[in-house]
Amino acid sequence: MSGGVLVPGSTIGILGGGQLGRMTALAAANLGYRCHIFAPEAESPAALVSADWTRAAYDDHAALRALASKIDVATYEFENVPVACVAFLEQLAPVRPSTEPLRVAQHRAREKAFFEGIDVAVAPYAVAGNEAELIAAAKHVGLPAIAKTATEGYDGKGQARLEAGTDLPAVWAALGGRELIVEGVVDFIAEASVIVARGMDGVARCFPIGRNVHRGGILHTTTVPGGFDDKLLRQAEVIGRRAADAFGLVGVLCVELFIGRDGRVLANEMAPRPHNSGHWTQDGCVTSQFEQLVRAICGLPLGPVGLRARQVVMTNLIGDEAADWLRIAGAPDAKLHLYGKRQARPGRKMGHVNRLVT
Ligand SMILES: Nc1ncnc2c1ncn2[C@@H]1O[C@H](COP(=O)(O)OP(=O)(O)O)[C@@H](O)[C@H]1O
Ligand SMILES: [Mg+2]
Repeated sequence: MSGGVLVPGSTIGILGGGQLGRMTALAAANLGYRCHIFAPEAESPAALVSADWTRAAYDDHAALRALASKIDVATYEFENVPVACVAFLEQLAPVRPSTEPLRVAQHRAREKAFFEGIDVAVAPYAVAGNEAELIAAAKHVGLPAIAKTATEGYDGKGQARLEAGTDLPAVWAALGGRELIVEGVVDFIAEASVIVARGMDGVARCFPIGRNVHRGGILHTTTVPGGFDDKLLRQAEVIGRRAADAFGLVGVLCVELFIGRDGRVLANEMAPRPHNSGHWTQDGCVTSQFEQLVRAICGLPLGPVGLRARQVVMTNLIGDEAADWLRIAGAPDAKLHLYGKRQARPGRKMGHVNRLVT
């Protein structure tokens, strides 16, 4: 079809089999598309709701070739899909977004340099590749600070707080003796995130910006609107749009933000995919972040992003919290979403609930 538009009935390949892929697949199905999940795990929340799936390792070239022959476009839902896997697939089928935002998002130091390169402020930081550099980095950045593994951290994992008197060699050992970045602790009054979708025509659209509250490093709630003033919201939108434009992104991208006590907006990290802080859009927005991703990568126009309620509150159901599902299902203002995961391990995201205030 003309202009690269994929007609309904086309197949979307999704690298990664978690809940983000699941919710993308559900949105895709709603628009008449089929999804093919590619993931190494034995159990996949995404595969449970998709037309097809391949269980294979991310470096299985034969399996990736077979995938490419069955799909019209591919995307990724998991941030740590190896860049080499995406680059290999990219030679065989269109992959949206491309490898570059993934490569940047997989490494905290690259991420910081990216933000600095587009003139977006970040917390003071330094990189440390060994114990002596960690000591130097802590001195350079100043305490209190947070040491984070440069790669593979999520939900607060792979982080340690550094205070005066912290045993830095012990921190180096505890974080696995891997490359770290040390960040100054930001005195924020709030956390927020800007989620932006950008289509094949280069048109970008931001979702209304929410306020995020974390517990133990894991997102607990997102509230939209977040009670931020217009100036701040504009700053946040500019950051999202600038990031998406810099990548020539086709897809969805989230930038996590710190709102400083001094009114400055700092970028924390980014993800070139739908984000937990955007789950409220499923019930609280005319178009969800998942539908927006499907629209973008299939060459459709982006959907409208108006709020459908006076306020929306998304609450994650982590570990045992999901055991309360039946009570939540009966609450008059609650929309329950469960990911179909069998085991509720501590810290594991099992589902979420969107509450609409009308
Ligand atoms: N430099 C910082 N200053 C203050 N709080 C921070 C800083 N870095 C991280 N945090 C807190 O820890 C949470 C998780 O850190 P983040 O860097 O987003 O890693 P993850 O990949 O685990 O989400 C943040 O949302 C924030 O609440
Ligand atoms: Mg984060």
